[in-house]
Amino acid sequence: MDLLETCQDLAAWRQQQQAPLHFVPTMGSLHEGHQQLIRRAAALRQGSGQPPSVLLSVFVNPLQFGPGEDLESYPRNLRSDIDLAAAAGATALFAPNVAEIYPRGEAGLTRVVPPLLLRQGLCGRHRPQHFEGVATVVIRLLTLVRPDLLLLGEKDWQQLVILRRVVADLGLPLRIQGCPTVREADGLACSSRNRRLSPSQRQQAAALPAGLAAAAAQVRGGLSQAPALTSQLARQLEAAGLRVDYVELVAPHSLEPLQQVQGLALLATAVHCGSSRLIDHCFLMSR
Ligand code: PAJ
Repeated sequence: MDLLETCQDLAAWRQQQQAPLHFVPTMGSLHEGHQQLIRRAAALRQGSGQPPSVLLSVFVNPLQFGPGEDLESYPRNLRSDIDLAAAAGATALFAPNVAEIYPRGEAGLTRVVPPLLLRQGLCGRHRPQHFEGVATVVIRLLTLVRPDLLLLGEKDWQQLVILRRVVADLGLPLRIQGCPTVREADGLACSSRNRRLSPSQRQQAAALPAGLAAAAAQVRGGLSQAPALTSQLARQLEAAGLRVDYVELVAPHSLEPLQQVQGLALLATAVHCGSSRLIDHCFLMSR
């Protein structure tokens, strides 16, 4: 696996690539969820059937962290990232520093602002600049990498919806593949932030997938009203010792708030557990 640290390294590497290029952007501290994206990227074939090159980026993007968030304490493990990326089948790993990505600093930066309708709810309400930071870095990376396929996890559902829209609105010539959430044995979605949980916090965090599963069971049992569903889930999460940022029922693609489960709906939540902010969601279907 090639290790690329500068935009110049990347440009030279990119020029040599004949095969379709599949790109997995990450903030590193890789786990099984990231590895599944890499494996999927390596396994997917386009028309020609030619095996693709898989590029992984590791860049903790300061722009998507708000004041008081965990930019400084975000876990960083480039050594182990290199091993895990290679083991999962990446062809190259791009790990630039901040000056490579933002050479004119934050004040000199052209930004990409996703539509208000997609970024005003869910995580966007609690992290006002977050999706602008995500869209800005991903578009910057896509411009450098020029991939044929971009792979993103469904775990960050709002991010996936927003990036699909931004790529479509800017008319970028690439496809996007969403990949299902990878979970640990007790159901907790794999996340770099799970590393910072103490054993007791780790137990508390399991209330997240358990609460969502209970909500899904209630919907199968006939409950459909959003206020009942969201307030029950919030109570359950708080009873487990988690601090709830939000519990919302929305339409999966427009992210518009729903008053009740009608057709396919997305129940999404974010909580604080110790110093970690964890997100999760499930899909619900009306009876
Ligand atoms: P990060 O949290 O490192 O996630 C990188 C990619 O891995 C994202 O597409 C995310 O949705 C996916 N991912 C994370 N955990 C997953 C899991 N348990 N199952 C499946 N996929 C998972 O998301 C970011 O970084 C950043 O915002 C980024 C897009 C790289 C821009 O900085």
